[in-house]
Amino acid sequence: MEKRAELYAGKAKSVYYTDDADKLILHFRDDTSAFDGEKMEQLARKGMINNRFNAFIMQKLEEAGIPTHFETLLSDTEVVVKNMQMMPVECVVRNLAAGSICRRLGLEEGVELDPPVFEFFLKDDALHDPMINESHIETFGWAKAEHVAKMKQLTFQVNDVLKQLFLDAGLLLVDYKLEFGLFHGEVVLGDEFSPDGCRLWDAQTRKKLDKDRFRQGLGGVIEAYEEVAQRLGVALPE
Ligand code: TMP
Ligand code: ASP
Repeated sequence: MEKRAELYAGKAKSVYYTDDADKLILHFRDDTSAFDGEKMEQLARKGMINNRFNAFIMQKLEEAGIPTHFETLLSDTEVVVKNMQMMPVECVVRNLAAGSICRRLGLEEGVELDPPVFEFFLKDDALHDPMINESHIETFGWAKAEHVAKMKQLTFQVNDVLKQLFLDAGLLLVDYKLEFGLFHGEVVLGDEFSPDGCRLWDAQTRKKLDKDRFRQGLGGVIEAYEEVAQRLGVALPE
């Protein structure tokens, strides 16, 4: 596998072409952003932790029958993935109220959401990722109706798998964001699953162990990511 030119640099990952048109390399950087890029910092080891964490989760999801873009780990901070046509839609599931839903609906943080809430957001930093619905997606052609239905179904399926996986490690999966793409016409999970894009709380104390530590300036960001990885059994180098 030969790494070729950079295709795209996101806020926390860079994407490279390879000599195989069907494959890309994702490079997880230490850059950490919040509030659509308004707050930015480099946190040593974050790229490595998220790369390992994401590989672990993607493999668990594959085992559960969810198609993902994950191919192979290439290095501490790089992974080989399928070259997909990404849909600019973010799928969020919430098991407990936190973040934007508290602001929008005046909910107290930590209220249980049963059944879990599903929301779509448009991936557009300049517009601050506005919440959208299926009607917007259809009208503006961001994804086809059949693909929207599939993304939603897969996002809920991920909840069934990961809620239990995290609970077994003493963690509550509060909410998470997924992004999907098309690979040879099939809807496949892309982007990443890491503490950057989900909320995880200690099941007993409800201590925050995710990117909210960075967003809210609580400190101990990397320590929290490492604790979560260690509790799940994700192997991390010293
Ligand atoms: P929110 O509470 O800010 O709407 O976010 C819900 C969850 O989705 C939270 O775990 C963070 C994640 N998320 C992202 O990682 N990136 C995004 O652009 C959005 C909208 C949400
Ligand atoms: N992922 C978005 C950003 O980096 C939103 C967030 O995590 O707060 O800016």
